[in-house]
Amino acid sequence: SSNDNATASGDGEQVAGNDECDPGEQVIKFSHVTNSDKHPKGIAASLLQERINAEMDGRMCMEVYPNSMLYNDDKVLEAMLLGDVQLAAPSLSKFENYTTRLRIFNFPFLFDDIDAVDRFQASPSGQALLNSMTDKGLKGLSFWHSGMKQLSADKPLLVPSDARGLKVRVENSDVLVAVFDQLGANPQKMAFSEVYGALQTGVVDGQENSWSNIYGQKFYEVQDGITNTDHGVLDYMLVTSSRWWDGLEDEDRRDLTKILEEVTTERNQAVNELEAEARKAIADAGTEIRELTPEQRQQWVDALRPVWKRFTPDVGADTLKAAQAANQ
Ligand code: LMR
Repeated sequence: SSNDNATASGDGEQVAGNDECDPGEQVIKFSHVTNSDKHPKGIAASLLQERINAEMDGRMCMEVYPNSMLYNDDKVLEAMLLGDVQLAAPSLSKFENYTTRLRIFNFPFLFDDIDAVDRFQASPSGQALLNSMTDKGLKGLSFWHSGMKQLSADKPLLVPSDARGLKVRVENSDVLVAVFDQLGANPQKMAFSEVYGALQTGVVDGQENSWSNIYGQKFYEVQDGITNTDHGVLDYMLVTSSRWWDGLEDEDRRDLTKILEEVTTERNQAVNELEAEARKAIADAGTEIRELTPEQRQQWVDALRPVWKRFTPDVGADTLKAAQAANQ
């Protein structure tokens, strides 16, 4: 029956907002890896929880497990297919075991800004990507934004040769490995929860992420500065198991869909503001934020363009074209 998982996970950790679910309510566990406060994903997950628990009371009950406390991104999709978790919003770089089509989001310097990413995701090509893993049992429900990625290390990074030889943490994506190989750096795939410690102890020298992640995980404390590169995008797919989704009562699925759509629209519209706040908080903490001159930026663009060619067969030339067309 549906309420077997109503209590918190084995470690007994209490999570704010996770009230007891009532008997008979269908429990939705949402596992994610970021902080819940002041983070685009954390806030969206909490809002989703609030609305489901208020508006679908007696039918559905959502529990949110942030900060990798339940699963990290390597494990969450397996857990979802086993029915241990019902919702997650991993970064678009974390689906490598299920599809190569999402690699489009890791092409360096493809999207001008988050608004362009949003337009691409809303296009027929972008929407089709939500169904790119249905054969594996995963159903994409929507895209959530975090922001454009910035680059940092234990030394200033202004031109591509500054990255040479650096050990750089990347998400679990072969495109991102290729990006840093191309720069002559040493990319290392690593779980999000390990990054702060790895930067602090020198296991890696640098990293790339959105402003809200650099702020939320305090990466700025253990880096020389942050270079405002906007060289890529850090976005999410809100995902569920097709089997769980298809098994819902029609009425529940309909109401859940409506809430999901509204939360997605509301929170995606707020993302630029949230990212700007995170950037400001990093600057206020005394960390140097470096801007590139147009010439410096062009050097990074030129250095990384070969990566596109290598991965175009994985994503399809039409999808690449649609993504480029989203820059206005
Ligand atoms: C990362 O691993 O850096 C990000 O995917 C974390 C996240 O979910 O924002």
